[in-house]
Amino acid sequence: VPDAAEAPKSFNPLDPELIEDPHPTYRAMREGGTLHEVPGLGMYAAFGYEAVLEVLKEKGGDHQYVELQKLRVGPNAPQEPYCRGAMNFVLMKRGEDHKRVRGAFIRAFTRHRIERLRPQIQATADHLIDAFADDRRVEIIEAFAMRLPLRTISLMLEVPEADQDRIVELMEGFALALQWIPLNATQLQKANEAITGLDRYFRELIADRRRHPHDDLLSALIAEADAGHLTEDELVSNAWGLYAAGHETTGAEIGNAIIALVEHPEQLRLLLEDQSLIPSAVDEIMRHRGLSQATQRSFPHPVSIAGRDIPAGTPVLAYMASGNRDEQIFDDPDRFDIRRTQPVRHLSFGAGAHTCAGQHLAVSEIECAIAALFTRLRGIRVESIDFNQEAILFQGPRRMVISWEADQKR
Ligand code: HEM
Repeated sequence: VPDAAEAPKSFNPLDPELIEDPHPTYRAMREGGTLHEVPGLGMYAAFGYEAVLEVLKEKGGDHQYVELQKLRVGPNAPQEPYCRGAMNFVLMKRGEDHKRVRGAFIRAFTRHRIERLRPQIQATADHLIDAFADDRRVEIIEAFAMRLPLRTISLMLEVPEADQDRIVELMEGFALALQWIPLNATQLQKANEAITGLDRYFRELIADRRRHPHDDLLSALIAEADAGHLTEDELVSNAWGLYAAGHETTGAEIGNAIIALVEHPEQLRLLLEDQSLIPSAVDEIMRHRGLSQATQRSFPHPVSIAGRDIPAGTPVLAYMASGNRDEQIFDDPDRFDIRRTQPVRHLSFGAGAHTCAGQHLAVSEIECAIAALFTRLRGIRVESIDFNQEAILFQGPRRMVISWEADQKR
């Protein structure tokens, strides 16, 4: 842990040191101020809780997705299939367009629909554990953490199990559409093929579901489109967009939850003694080990954040994971305490107009995941972790081997 004297004078969002443990850097940045200029990148970065909230709540902010893609692949970016597909996703929309698409999405994605799913999420978690419980050792991210959200989203959209692996494969190509680094010709082709494949699959699924509507989320989204609240292209992008937003994110966060609980055995013991602590434990996991480190905003007008004037069009990174450890807000912020009564909401699901629209589903999945894993597999140990090195704004395991003593239910 660097002390103030060693604090970095400047911040580099691409620094590989941020991958495994970004918190010493965030702490040093907060010690130097709540908002900093990022040298060489023409950006600002907010690290304090209040400054992050200001960025996220400031009106008119958006991702400038299309402008960023032009920088990555050239002025024709908006004609590339990957960009056309991604720009219809609710997260990339701006202003009134965003309000309309988000409204349709929220109406279809009701709390009731999510709660109704809970027994199935629990059963899926148990079923996935059955497959490896006798082995005493497993690579948990692929076998469990990623599969649970994959199955859950597929249940909501009624996507057959046989098609789910293909969707995961296409999603890998899609991930390229969300990064910052310039795309080379091979990557561009992969991203375009991925979106074209997703587009084709979901158009067919939607055509079929229109003929035979069910009581599922996809049918509800189709009804929104048929009522004129979504264009057909928006309907398609926001159907596969659910996988983009809710699959790897939730999967990696389940991985983070396992790490947090294994690293704090006394907290895990409390949780196992009193399972009514699960909701507050998940809240604390999200605060302490949230996956999303930061998101980015640009504004069409000059803004004032934390008392600093920021010119129009300047990207601002809002470090939510740093705000979650702000010592001005949270008492002893590095302490992991599942009984903590949080004075304010953590920032790991964002805030403002683009607040995570799937957070209740994500929380429900993480709750079911940790309840099933830690009650069935006693004495879980983390043997090795391979952190995701590519997704610079996410912190979570890509692969993780765990071992345990025995399946208690057998
Ligand atoms: C633990 C897992 C998750 C995390 C950490 C997470 C985090 C976030 C964050 C930080 C944002 C805001 C991004 C920004 O402002 O730039 C966001 C937006 C969003 N999330 Fe999540 N998310 C998770 C799971 C999910 C799930 C399960 C779904 C749905 C299936 C979902 C759907 C969305 C959607 C649709 C948006 C865009 C909302 C908008 O632009 O209005 N997320 N998420």
